Amino acid sequence: MKFVIALCSALLLSLSMAASADPIVIKFSHVVADSTPKGQAALKFKELAEKKLPGKVVVEVFPNSQLFGDGKEMEALLLGDVQIVAPSLSKFSKYTKKLQVFDLPFLFDDIAAVDRFQNSPKGLELLTAMEGKGIVGLGFLHNGMKQFSANVQLRTPADANGLKFRIQASDVLEEQFKAVGGNPQKIAFAEVYQALQSGVVDGAENPWSNIYTKKFFEVQKYITESDHGVLDYIVATNAKWWNDLPADVRKGLEESMREAIAYGNKVAFTEDDNFRAKVIEAKKAEVIKLTKAEKEQWRKSMKPVWTKFEEEIGKDLIEAAQQANAN
Ligand code: LMR
Repeated sequence: MKFVIALCSALLLSLSMAASADPIVIKFSHVVADSTPKGQAALKFKELAEKKLPGKVVVEVFPNSQLFGDGKEMEALLLGDVQIVAPSLSKFSKYTKKLQVFDLPFLFDDIAAVDRFQNSPKGLELLTAMEGKGIVGLGFLHNGMKQFSANVQLRTPADANGLKFRIQASDVLEEQFKAVGGNPQKIAFAEVYQALQSGVVDGAENPWSNIYTKKFFEVQKYITESDHGVLDYIVATNAKWWNDLPADVRKGLEESMREAIAYGNKVAFTEDDNFRAKVIEAKKAEVIKLTKAEKEQWRKSMKPVWTKFEEEIGKDLIEAAQQANAN
């Protein structure tokens, strides 16, 4: 009998050892192409994490809404169906209203200002703003400034009057287009190309990397270089999953993510112009440059949106963001 018990315990022990030796599978789901800043950061994270933690983790990257579209990825994260996502900052308002600051039109002069704000004490606080909801922000990640696109030339706000625009699921962006008489429609990223192609909407807004890699330039006649807002991300994970990880694994993942984000940000800074050049080279859509006076008109029409969200976001946060501009 003693022998049987000893045998069973040995068997159980070896089984549990085998189980604990299984690598932790980390699913990283996102909605854009591999060659974009987010796509590149995700692949870099896989490379670094698997190198740093050999046999301990396996990272599976799912780009292009393959696993979950943007309407479902946060839910999937909270359910534990994926471990890492990086939705745009416009897609977190269900979890914190503060991140709406990034959607305010004409708040940031350029991506360098966005970077300064994100790395300021007030900016960094935003990464922990969703912890009460079970979400940990591992870092901000850039994509770029947004450009308007449409099938008509958008030079002044009056040109947008009556047009249907695809927007992300953001109330601020909804008000932004309403401010110029547009008709905004919340549509998932994976459906944008078709919505533009079939005329469900007349226009949209996106940074150059998305306009190029998702071929939006093929189904829009004009792209207006407006730089009117930012499209960046928070790389997010499930708080419980993250906190339950063995300490050495969590540390290794944290370091890998820090490096991967730095890499993605470098791609964002260096490739934005290249994506723009590729869109121009393709000669499918005409790129419109705004004069200073035209840009000022857009700013004037859209800036009243700030006051509408001032209370939800916090005046202090809006002011801190403004201070990140160079002038
Ligand atoms: C969008 O929906 O337009 C973007 O958030 C897509 C992305 O992740 O860049």
